[in-house]
Amino acid sequence: MDTCTNRKQLTSLVEAEVTVNSDAADGHMRLELHFPAGENARPVPGQFIMLRVHEGSDPLLARPFGIAGYSEENDIARIEIFYRIVGKGTREMAQWSAGHGVKFLGPLGNSFNLPPADSRSLLIAGGIGLPPLLALVRYMDALGRKDELTVLYGGKVLAGMVGVDVLEGLGIDVQTCTEDGSCGRLGLVTGLLSEYENGKGSHLFVCGPNPMMLAVHEACDSLSESSQYSLESRMACGFGVCSGCAVAVERGEGREYQRACREGPVFAGRDLVPDSFPDNL
Ligand SMILES: Cc1cc2nc3c(=O)[nH]c(=O)nc-3n(C[C@H](O)[C@H](O)[C@H](O)COP(=O)(O)OP(=O)(O)OC[C@H]3O[C@@H](n4cnc5c(N)ncnc54)[C@H](O)[C@@H]3O)c2cc1C
Ligand code: FES
Repeated sequence: MDTCTNRKQLTSLVEAEVTVNSDAADGHMRLELHFPAGENARPVPGQFIMLRVHEGSDPLLARPFGIAGYSEENDIARIEIFYRIVGKGTREMAQWSAGHGVKFLGPLGNSFNLPPADSRSLLIAGGIGLPPLLALVRYMDALGRKDELTVLYGGKVLAGMVGVDVLEGLGIDVQTCTEDGSCGRLGLVTGLLSEYENGKGSHLFVCGPNPMMLAVHEACDSLSESSQYSLESRMACGFGVCSGCAVAVERGEGREYQRACREGPVFAGRDLVPDSFPDNL
């Protein structure tokens, strides 16, 4: 598989300005940050930023968010993220207005490897897991390869799903499902997957809540041609020094722990075990 190029990492803080911070769905926001282009590495699909929510110490730790979009125009770079309001940090972010100054670290982490040319890929997202897959869709679209993709996107309810309009605007084959039938099919994304022979012979790209990713891994991994999962983990530093984000992987000789922020967040499905998807997130 090809690797997305330009996987450079940056560990100095970028100063940016909020240009958009608007409702994307119930309890979800879309944030756009502008900053000078050229000083920073260009992100590739699968990477994330650590966003400093507060200049002071409460909350002290920056928060990780997947990069959904990136562009440059007239020396200005633009990063787009989608976030769900869940706690202190994201509640504070939801108060930001255009013109607010913020700092972030990134782009961080590894990235998705591109599928071989003229292959079939299933991108499987749950809830707020869509953003890194949206970045992959846009990257493939720019390469003229969007017809190789199908996105299966599941949520609890329509009001908790973000980015479907973006996918439809790009003309991507997208199938949705919700637990109450308010968007697409009634049921779970694993139900949708069964209509695609559980990913048999396809390249899988997966991001969502850990229980959903575990269910996909159990149902599909051995049938797929290849698979990559963007894992959820709590992160303190985001660039490899605290080991707080360790996830269990199994290769050849046995189990080891790898840092989701450095060796991940994207891991090959063949290296993952049930413990790679802790259910406390
Ligand atoms: C690589 C990576 C990419 C992410 N991308 C996105 C994204 O694009 N959009 C988005 O909305 N969220 C994303 N998250 C999760 C996001 O970082 C957390 O929701 C956020 O840090 C919560 O901050 P808070 O201060 O509001 O919540 P806190 O007050 O810190 O915690 C409130 C609750 O949020 C949940 N939470 C906290 N940290 C995480 C975490 N790391 N992962 C999952 N749940 C968590 C827990 O259930 C906790 O009980 C990502 C996480 C990682 C590791
Ligand atoms: S978050 Fe510190 S090592 Fe990964």
